[in-house]
Amino acid sequence: MTKPLADRRVLLIVGGGIAAYKALDLIRRLRERGAAVRPLLTRSAQEFVTPLAAAALAGVPAHTDLFDRADEAEIGHIGLAREADAVVVAPATANLMARMATGHAPDLATTVLLATTLPILIAPAMNVAMWAHPATRRNLATLLTDGVRVVGPNAGPMAEPETGVGRMAEPVEIADALAAMLAETAAEPAGFGFLSGRPRKAPGPLAGRRVLVTSGPTHEPIDPVRFIANRSSGRQGHAIAAAAAQAGAAVTLVSGPVAIPDPPGVAVVRVETAREMLAAVQAALPAAVAVFAAAVADWRPDAAQGSKIKKDGAPPAPLALIENPDILATIAGLGEGRPTLVVGFAAETDRVIEHARAKIVRKGCDLIVANDVSASGGVMGGTANTVHLIARDGTVETWPRLDKDEVGRRLVARFSALLAD
Ligand code: CTP
Repeated sequence: MTKPLADRRVLLIVGGGIAAYKALDLIRRLRERGAAVRPLLTRSAQEFVTPLAAAALAGVPAHTDLFDRADEAEIGHIGLAREADAVVVAPATANLMARMATGHAPDLATTVLLATTLPILIAPAMNVAMWAHPATRRNLATLLTDGVRVVGPNAGPMAEPETGVGRMAEPVEIADALAAMLAETAAEPAGFGFLSGRPRKAPGPLAGRRVLVTSGPTHEPIDPVRFIANRSSGRQGHAIAAAAAQAGAAVTLVSGPVAIPDPPGVAVVRVETAREMLAAVQAALPAAVAVFAAAVADWRPDAAQGSKIKKDGAPPAPLALIENPDILATIAGLGEGRPTLVVGFAAETDRVIEHARAKIVRKGCDLIVANDVSASGGVMGGTANTVHLIARDGTVETWPRLDKDEVGRRLVARFSALLAD
């Protein structure tokens, strides 16, 4: 079997953050998949990893400002910006993202990023507050609009004594995102709409808007090896995120654990639990539209055990559950900072419309997309969906059975129309 990145040349820009140590593993992963990797370390990256370590793993010298002043004639920043198939920035610190978004180029890494016409993938990593800061939100939106691809960050424990969204995506996730980006840019017709190697779309109906989508299930740990989950595949939420990006929006997708690929052109934040999902959603605001397609676990074990629960001969202890925060209701109930359009889903197995009508009032959202998830319909985990749109005034519009991608496109067209009203 050909390796997914066979013969691909990757310029890997390593930014200065504690996650830089994972960039070394990323070099290994990329090479395992067949790619040739040329590392470029910023000055602050060298506080965390040495050019020697990166070079040893890559099998070629690592570039630094110093190296390139000596070798400008040989390769130089313009050569670096051209002699690859893609640029990966991992970790992309808040500072690097800001420089990329504004075209500020005081060093070799940022000069290359400004000079390159190649597709760029960034893997942000920073502390929770920096990721949530409005400046980073703005920079992310600018970069997405410029055609830069984003993978992560993920939720989880961080180097600092806090947990939240900001952890760099895992090296295998970055390698997968790179393969997807290259497959997609290769599929674009040559010369079409390219100001550079990055696709420039005609401004769509959601151009300049930010859209937030939740998708997939949540996993609620019982102990380190067991969890409560549900059958959500994430297909519908991911399809909405993809359609919104296609319509020109800067999209953040907050996804629970799913087995489907990231939609192209979308910033994906991976989470596991409902509480992580709420934190990631809050960090991704503001947004013009927020769509809550995730099948969030309503309850979680009251106390997740730190070590595996063993059979000890006695009957199993009952599992005490407590309710999770309602993410949709929390965001719909915001005063200041509430998205203009808050859209919920209603997964029902009976009396679909009646339950959905009650839900729109209870949750305070503007629109509910209701679907019948009883086992006979095959919606949960399947590729097609029959939905009913329920408005605040209780009116119902029923769509025919459609592919989930088509449901995504039609919903996005509806959101655009509602925003334009
Ligand atoms: N939702 C959420 N946070 C939760 C539970 C649900 O954001 N803790 C959102 C879902 O993403 C969806 C909507 O609320 O958009 C409705 O989800 P659903 O599971 O149908 O409703 P529940 O609130 O779980 O109500 P019930 O279990 O009574 O049907």
